[in-house]
Amino acid sequence: ATRHIPVICVDGPTASGKGTVAVAVAARLGYHFLDSGAMYRVTALAASRAGLAIDTAHEAAIATLAQTLPVRFEGGKVWLAGDDVTEQIRTEEAGMNASRVSALPSVRTALVALQHSFRRLPGLVADGRDMGTVIFPQASLKVYLTASAACRAERRHKQLISKGISTTIDSLRADLEARDARDSSRSVSPLKPAQDALLLDNSEISITQSVDQVLAWWEGRQPF
Ligand code: DC
Repeated sequence: ATRHIPVICVDGPTASGKGTVAVAVAARLGYHFLDSGAMYRVTALAASRAGLAIDTAHEAAIATLAQTLPVRFEGGKVWLAGDDVTEQIRTEEAGMNASRVSALPSVRTALVALQHSFRRLPGLVADGRDMGTVIFPQASLKVYLTASAACRAERRHKQLISKGISTTIDSLRADLEARDARDSSRSVSPLKPAQDALLLDNSEISITQSVDQVLAWWEGRQPF
């Protein structure tokens, strides 16, 4: 029944700007937005609250948690049961835990239905690692957004500094390269461009230019 509801996938490595671009594209088109990374972040948080270390020994228990994850996305806020966890899931540590939990195959399977449920009229923009390759293989447009590791580290640094969090560009770069390596080398749904994805490297262009490029590609696909 959802087959005719358009989906735009924006996949790519950590801190490539895909979240910002995907939100802006969704706003311009009046589409829904899926932040699949936030689902993995919330799953990791739920596991730690349940006292479960994130490793294969607890895979089944964490998958059970994910299957009935009491997560809600509302007006830019993310809720886990009754708690607003919007800020808590954005730390570097939460990102690393999300990356680890996302390498557990049965956790990925447990989150598929929840991700599919975001496909509603008039359309969806989905942000993640495997939106185009695994979750929405029939999507009308797939974008793979990248930027150099140096650029991504610098952007993340600026973001954190503006929040009053002090770190160094070098340690951020090491962290994001470690996360890229784990996300790209895992056996299930690794980070990689879909065969039919359009590649966009935004190292040298602004967010606005990236958004305009995605919208131009989308225009070019009409009518379906
Ligand atoms: O996009 P993000 O940084 O919020 O994602 C956090 C982690 O979740 C990322 O390092 C890998 C994992 N992830 C995934 O495996 N598949 C997705 N579709 C989205 C995120």
